[in-house]
Amino acid sequence: MNILFMGPPGAGKGTQAERIVDTFGVPHISTGDAFRLAMKQGTPLGQKAKEYVDQGLLVPDEITNGIVRERLQLEDCNSGFLLDGFPRTLQQAEALDGMLAEMGRSIDHVVNLKVDRGLLLARLTGRRICKACGATYHVMFNPPVQEGVCDKCGGELYQRSDDTEAKVGTRLDEYISKTSLLLDYYSGKGLLREVNGEKEIDEVTGEITACLRGSL
Ligand code: AP5
Ligand code: ZN
Repeated sequence: MNILFMGPPGAGKGTQAERIVDTFGVPHISTGDAFRLAMKQGTPLGQKAKEYVDQGLLVPDEITNGIVRERLQLEDCNSGFLLDGFPRTLQQAEALDGMLAEMGRSIDHVVNLKVDRGLLLARLTGRRICKACGATYHVMFNPPVQEGVCDKCGGELYQRSDDTEAKVGTRLDEYISKTSLLLDYYSGKGLLREVNGEKEIDEVTGEITACLRGSL
């Protein structure tokens, strides 16, 4: 199954993707994770991406499209994929259509997680991530058993550099001006599935699973 997760920063795309990929047996492809890894490794891609990510701005389309094109060609995508955070501009959406057409494939579902802007700010500024395994927590909404320590692997939790209040504001503005118009694009193709992302994490997972199984 070929799935896209859409929604503003902090809507829960990464949290839900971690859960959904196990159920559907597809790889989780996050362009944000790819940029953060390259930044951590200090590669030329990472240095370029850092100029944008650190300011809360979108990385240019040609860079982002290249990463996704390479990733989709890997063997583990033969059974499908879950793209999280891509596409984010009309140009990226059209590029993705082109890549998939070349591969003789197409998108099955676009899941949009809907969350109010005020809640997004609270979610993002309270988010903590495991340095070792990447698991996501929230200081209030999804806290680890022991403060600052990952439940799954004992790793140390950290706050993303773009999760400060000022940068979250820029990211939300980028979403509204460049990404939200993609909802019409996918709705017009009959692919859009709207899910209320404000419910409890387990409830949201249940709703997405039902959508993808075609029972909602
Ligand atoms: P990216 O990493 O994709 O960030 P994002 O879209 O801003 O999304 P987030 O990861 O912040 O949020 P999420 O929806 O995954 O929420 P999460 O599950 O963590 O992109 C980062 C940057 O990379 C961009 O700004 C840009 O510079 C660049 N980039 C990436 N892709 C690009 C592209 N295609 N083009 C150009 N540039 C690109 O949840 C958030 C918090 O809420 C967590 O703490 C979680 O525990 C909590 N939470 C989740 N669900 C619930 C719930 N139901 N109830 C209560 N709490 C919840
Ligand atoms: Zn961990």
